[in-house]
Amino acid sequence: MMNSLTQKPYLIIFFLLISISSYTRAKTLKQNQPCKQIILYYHDILFNGTDLANATSAQITNETALSHHFGMMVVFDDPMTKDGRLLSPPVARAQGFYFYDRKNTYNAWFAYTLIFNSTDYKGTLNIMGADPLPEKTRDLSVVGGTGDFFMTRGIATFTTEEVQGDYYFRLKMDIKLYECYNHK
Ligand SMILES: *[C@@H]1O[C@H](CO)[C@@H](O)[C@H](O)[C@H]1NC(C)=O
Ligand SMILES: *[C@@H]1O[C@H](CO)[C@@H](O)[C@H](O)[C@H]1NC(C)=O
Ligand SMILES: *[C@@H]1O[C@H](CO)[C@@H](O)[C@H](O)[C@H]1NC(C)=O
Ligand SMILES: *[C@@H]1O[C@H](CO)[C@@H](O)[C@H](O)[C@H]1NC(C)=O
Repeated sequence: MMNSLTQKPYLIIFFLLISISSYTRAKTLKQNQPCKQIILYYHDILFNGTDLANATSAQITNETALSHHFGMMVVFDDPMTKDGRLLSPPVARAQGFYFYDRKNTYNAWFAYTLIFNSTDYKGTLNIMGADPLPEKTRDLSVVGGTGDFFMTRGIATFTTEEVQGDYYFRLKMDIKLYECYNHK
């Protein structure tokens, strides 16, 4: 029968190896050296009550009296294009939601999946984080992926490119991945 004394050295070596490997991995991640970079444009057309064919998103909760749309939530199934043109062929879809969560400025929180089903890529990227709209660029986390993006992680940088009232806005999403486990 093994007692705890004979097990201990193995445990210590095990945790030592784990901390060494996570230390070296942290050291080799450089912000300007992603293993993959994809730039895509997100088009959000908010349902206005009549444009059933055109709308790609809809408000599902009303804003509250706290101003700056506080409490308003939008669910979207938006096209992603390779350039900034709304009518370019979509290369992925962004499916998820955002809501407004500050009363003294426009501030949103996003959680969505980018779904790729093309000859370039098949798979998903899952992205979430705060979107403080007054900032010129905002960094959100790529928390994981599937398919061609198996187990990936990275940063998605948002830049607002165009806003047309409450009906349409376009974001540039500069997606940089720092962990890539496939060969594409
Ligand atoms: C909704 O948008 C469509 C096309 O974008 C426009 O024709 C229509 O007048 C709008 N409806 C309202 C209520 O603003
Ligand atoms: C939505 O909320 C705003 C602000 O509280 C209010 O003025 C408006 O009447 C609400 N609209 C609906 C459809 O409940
Ligand atoms: C992906 O594209 C293929 C070929 O166009 C299609 O058969 C398949 O249903 C699509 N899958 C999804 C999840 O949209
Ligand atoms: C769809 O919405 C976009 C963005 O608001 C607008 O530019 C375009 O004219 C609309 N298309 C139609 C057919 O209503």
